[in-house]
Amino acid sequence: MEVIKTGKHLGAEIRGVDLSKPLSDAQFEAVSQAFFEHQVVVFPDQRLEPQQQIDFTKRFGTLEHHVRKESRLEGYPEIFVLSNILDEAGKPIGALDAGRFWHSDLSYKQHPSMLSALYSVEIPEKDGVVYGDTHYASVVAAYDHLPDAMKKRLEGLSAVHSYAYYRRKNRLAQMEEAARGGRVIEEPELSEEQLRSVPDMSFPIVRTHPVTGRKALFVNEAHTSHIVGMDQEEGDRLLAELYAHIIKPEFRHTHRWRRGDLLMWDNTAAQHKATFDYALPLRRLMYRTTVRGSVPY
Ligand code: SIN
Repeated sequence: MEVIKTGKHLGAEIRGVDLSKPLSDAQFEAVSQAFFEHQVVVFPDQRLEPQQQIDFTKRFGTLEHHVRKESRLEGYPEIFVLSNILDEAGKPIGALDAGRFWHSDLSYKQHPSMLSALYSVEIPEKDGVVYGDTHYASVVAAYDHLPDAMKKRLEGLSAVHSYAYYRRKNRLAQMEEAARGGRVIEEPELSEEQLRSVPDMSFPIVRTHPVTGRKALFVNEAHTSHIVGMDQEEGDRLLAELYAHIIKPEFRHTHRWRRGDLLMWDNTAAQHKATFDYALPLRRLMYRTTVRGSVPY
């Protein structure tokens, strides 16, 4: 196994590992160490069946079943499908809009995701140009580089992470897109039962990484609705300041996809955002598995 660092604070390529076969304990330990050190790692040239992706990622912990049932892969509820492809009836075969805003996966759940793994089945490519990059930002590096006064200000503060807030924000973005003349495909409303399964959660704004012990910022523009006990305007200003800090170029890494990449990221240490710079007939099809994390502290 060879680990090649590709970014300053985050990003590495792990070569020489075939994830379609079970890893030995020693191989898994080496992969796991490299992963937590580099926060975002890619395993290139994989040929994975859905079950093989499930088998590899569940060695890290329990796999989630996404609340959007209609975007789960049939027969594999652990796999969340991200795609712009439509079926014969014109319905999306997966989530069309995942990653529109900076976020860490499932930060609104009682046990936010520890890590996610995204496998590229089809990537949008035309005339040798690949579209649909995924951008990452290290929230541990961002925390480390905060001024001491800001670190002090954040001590003891909590923020609310809300899936309902995210849905409203996303709907607004879709309406804006439609107003600009863009094509918007309506996604199914969540049922009352689905919404009840993801109640709002309140977590510390600065959390400690359960594996590395490093401190990380834990607010994101997709899911964080407000700061607990703070006037909304003041809270919004503080959140905007933190978001702008997190995505400074020095904390960033961009992944350009190749078919067969399995990309895995640490949701405690990094946030991410998708790029929607392609449209049909260019097709993008990705399978995501997400490992449950612990309650943030
Ligand atoms: C995600 O937010 O998990 C999706 C990232 C991507 O599709 O690039």
